[in-house]
Amino acid sequence: MTSSRKFLVGGNWKMNGSRQLVETLVKALNEGSWSNNVECVIAPPSPYLHQVRSTLRSEVGVSAQNIWTEAKGAYTGEISHEMLTDLSIKWVILGHSERRAIFKESDELVGKKVANAVKAGLNVIACCGETEAERDAGNTTEVVFRQIKAIASQLSAADWSKVVIAYEPVWAIGTGKVATPQQAQDAHKEIRGWLAANVSKEVADSTRILYGGSVSAKSSPDLQKEQDIDGFLVGGASLKDQEFLQILNSRL
Ligand code: PGA
Repeated sequence: MTSSRKFLVGGNWKMNGSRQLVETLVKALNEGSWSNNVECVIAPPSPYLHQVRSTLRSEVGVSAQNIWTEAKGAYTGEISHEMLTDLSIKWVILGHSERRAIFKESDELVGKKVANAVKAGLNVIACCGETEAERDAGNTTEVVFRQIKAIASQLSAADWSKVVIAYEPVWAIGTGKVATPQQAQDAHKEIRGWLAANVSKEVADSTRILYGGSVSAKSSPDLQKEQDIDGFLVGGASLKDQEFLQILNSRL
């Protein structure tokens, strides 16, 4: 059943990098190799999207880290789906916990952004995940289901072919405190179950669910063995060229 879902490893650079680092990381990805069964997408900050897309080999996808809901207009500081399409950028990360927590993006706004991006033809990595307090209170599934419902309520079943979910527990992001394979698998299974019950069995079976939160070359080999883990969204380790290649190679 897992065979139809191609393993995906995303690299989220967040607000890090320079032209020099872009050169280093692109060179490593252009020269590196990994299994044909693994898809790679990297998300540099928007000022570097064009440099990355025009120097990286075409099999590796490039993603923005956020976009606004409109195509153009008086939205100072924002970027749009139309600009991504103009730059041949086919992916966008939406609803990252840093967008939710620091920039106060609501579930509803994230849902709207995902729907608009999909309708504009982009592939979306849609993020969800609970805080430590929410997990400790036993509310993990409630929080994650609420976040996914806000997205699903604005999508048709067909739209899901453009959506990848990233389960990223907030307590694991940038903390070095990676979820155990079992914790991640449990959450992914719940999410897939939610999709089966609320969207369709087909969408549940075909939608990729990535795990994110302190993924490293050390943790990736065991995490990737879990049945419902279909890839990773890697932050800090995606800025280290050799470690990111090791993570790509943790899946054969
Ligand atoms: P991290 O970040 O790997 O540095 O924990 C992951 C993410 O936020 O996507």
